[in-house]
Amino acid sequence: MANLLVTGGAGFIGANFVHYWREHHPNDGMVVLDALTYAGNRTSLAGLESLRFVHGDIRATEIVSSLIRDHDIDTIVHFAAESHVDRSIDGPDAFIDTNITGTHSLLKAAKSEWLDRGSGRPHRFHHISTDEVYGSLGPDDPPFSELTPYAPNSPYSASKAGSDHLVRAYHHTFGLQTTTTNCSNNYGPYQFPEKLIPLFLINCLTGKPLPIYGDGMNVRDWLYVKDHCRGIELVLDRGQVGQTYNIGGGEELPNLTVIDVICAAVDERFNADPALAARFPDAPAAKGQASSSLKTFVTDRLGHDRRYAIDERKIQEELGYRPARDFKSGLAATVDWYLAHENWWRAVMDGSYRVWLERNYGSRATVG
Ligand code: NAD
Ligand code: DAU
Repeated sequence: MANLLVTGGAGFIGANFVHYWREHHPNDGMVVLDALTYAGNRTSLAGLESLRFVHGDIRATEIVSSLIRDHDIDTIVHFAAESHVDRSIDGPDAFIDTNITGTHSLLKAAKSEWLDRGSGRPHRFHHISTDEVYGSLGPDDPPFSELTPYAPNSPYSASKAGSDHLVRAYHHTFGLQTTTTNCSNNYGPYQFPEKLIPLFLINCLTGKPLPIYGDGMNVRDWLYVKDHCRGIELVLDRGQVGQTYNIGGGEELPNLTVIDVICAAVDERFNADPALAARFPDAPAAKGQASSSLKTFVTDRLGHDRRYAIDERKIQEELGYRPARDFKSGLAATVDWYLAHENWWRAVMDGSYRVWLERNYGSRATVG
């Protein structure tokens, strides 16, 4: 039995991981530490009564230390971050503060509790990172392996690269038992509608333009979030300490293809279920038009990376990882989830979640 501290567990991947872990390891203790930024939502953890939720910041080293002590934490799974590239272009400071200083704060707390106090107990610090640290690939370049040199291009990816190096250094210098995974673009339930897939899906439902950056031919490797959670579980279970593992979905697709699949999936749902037209009267599909009519080419993202792709032989060969979902079935499951959880996405988008939180927990509430 393990006792996990999950940082960023109210965000997209963190919440999926918490649900996954509760289902597969029901006897483990779990504490979620999350600052509930715009991207963190307490409702994403609804129904997990046995969970300890702490509303707090990873930069509060002393609080993290006391959580490790008080809850006998032996495993930290670190998701908390500022994660959106566009926001890092508009305002990089928060990315440096959370992704670099915040990760360092966690490492200090872990070192202090697990090494300096001499408990000598087995422990693991698992850091969630991104394939973006490797930079951008040309059309014929081989996919990113764990040996690809770092070449981050955005403030976001540079801040994640900085955090990866700190994790590596705490292992090398102090002997902290660390692992890191660098994964590709996740999609699935609970993703905040600023990232490509949920944003475009919701814009199809609400009749808003689909803003395609540049020529729409940037390529990403799409990973269904539950496959990612399974990959993390394998690394926690059998990954070698001090190592990094790349996790991908094996689905390299240009944005225009992804967008066409989203539009087609929405049109199909409306054809099959006439009640959707009443729920979403502004959707083109409600008026017998194609969702693709919303496609709008806009100015490209600054420094926009052209292509990411993952060479996942290491995690496949060492740990037997294989993604279970292909893009078609993962996207279908995602579209169905968003259609069934309209309250969730409307609340997180219009900010009424904050009102709900204040009302239910009060402005000074820290622990739920
Ligand atoms: P997200 O933006 O959906 O969630 C981030 C969570 O971290 C939120 O709940 C937020 O409240 C919390 N948080 C932010 N700052 C905090 C702080 N200072 N203290 C405590 N909590 C804080 O992010 P995500 O998409 O779930 O990504 C999770 C991790 O995975 C990140 O480290 C990200 O870099 C990495 N990653 C994401 C993807 C992806 O496709 N989404 C791909 C590769 C790697
Ligand atoms: O590769 C992993 C990374 O994937 C993670 O580390 C990041 O946290 C995550 O945000 C994601 O980064 P991307 O920039 O690849 O994801 P995003 O969904 O923002 O964009 C995907 C592609 O779609 C990218 O080429 C930009 C394009 N795009 C995105 C948005 C939001 C558009 O064309 N229009 C849009 O409005």
